Amino acid sequence: MFRLLGMTSRDDRELLRHHGDVDAEPGLLDFAVNVRLERPPSWLRQRLVEALDRLGHYPSATEDLAARTAIAARHGRDPGEVLPLAGAAEGFALLPTLRPRLAAVVHPSFTEPEFALRGAGVPVTRVQLDPADGYRIRVEAVPDEADLVVLGNPTNPTSVLHPAEALAELARPGRVLVVDEAFADAVPGEPESLTTTELPGLLVLRSLTKMWGLPGLRAGYALGDPELLARLAHARPHWPLGTLALEAIDACCAPSALAEADEAAARIASHRDAFAADLGALPGVEVRGPAAAPFLLLRVPGGAEVRERLRQRGIAVRRGDTFPGLDTDHMRVSVRAPEDNAVLVETLHEILESTPTDSGVRV
Ligand SMILES: Cc1ncc(COP(=O)(O)O)c(C=O)c1O
Repeated sequence: MFRLLGMTSRDDRELLRHHGDVDAEPGLLDFAVNVRLERPPSWLRQRLVEALDRLGHYPSATEDLAARTAIAARHGRDPGEVLPLAGAAEGFALLPTLRPRLAAVVHPSFTEPEFALRGAGVPVTRVQLDPADGYRIRVEAVPDEADLVVLGNPTNPTSVLHPAEALAELARPGRVLVVDEAFADAVPGEPESLTTTELPGLLVLRSLTKMWGLPGLRAGYALGDPELLARLAHARPHWPLGTLALEAIDACCAPSALAEADEAAARIASHRDAFAADLGALPGVEVRGPAAAPFLLLRVPGGAEVRERLRQRGIAVRRGDTFPGLDTDHMRVSVRAPEDNAVLVETLHEILESTPTDSGVRV
């Protein structure tokens, strides 16, 4: 565990800001970005098209309330406990407004929270989880003095789903506990979600991006105590979300959308387990597990070279070494349709089976 203040170097900044969209160059078969759909489903596009007629007005209080009410109904909460966001990423960007004295970020994990906090000059401690423990949370590793703790569930990139009880142990008066549930809707039944749990200082962030093919819209929300949400939001501009984002939130919280998401989650889980078994059978490939998210973390000897050779063969995977605690042998792959997953397995197999090099990879 070590402490960091500000951005220590340009490299550091660039590594924390690296995301899968950079790895997914146009034309490559994309295993780098974890968005389920290439575009939103037709019923959602239809809702957005109809909402275009309202773009001649500022987003109204009625539209804002409709989105909040839909989120609240979806999670059995009160509309006052809901804050619509321009993506979960906006939630991270707002964290410095809480003026934490020491933030603990649990790694390996999504790097935007650390980026936002350090960029605003908040002292940050990294809590580094151990591959020997399967990257599971160790509550005692989080320093008592941290008044802000951030972690993901399930976690990007490890695919680990932490037990809700373990996360609850991290909550305490005087501390804000941020649980990034951007991928929780891809876990069938969402067994470890904290959306319906009341804990002191708990802030749950959710995203519409991944499940609904909406990265370009920027839509998500936070759930938490109204007083905490008010502190988080006090410096936001007026109309922080546009009409289309509010419309998408309302649409995606409808019972029919939730049923569709449940089916998708079950499908993804079964594709993931088959994909993990096939990848794990390849020579030298370690699949970190048990995986719960719609992606897998792999460790492949000579990973950087393998990644480059996959790229030459038309396949993009997410580099792992920009996640604190992982090295160039790590890569993250999204779970795609079985026929696409088979292409990756086959291509990786061919790369690993060809002639060995110094790095251990066969070329
Ligand atoms: C773990 C995690 N949390 C949050 C986000 C950001 O989500 P949004 O698009 O809702 O801002 C991402 C995006 O890649 C992510 O991987």
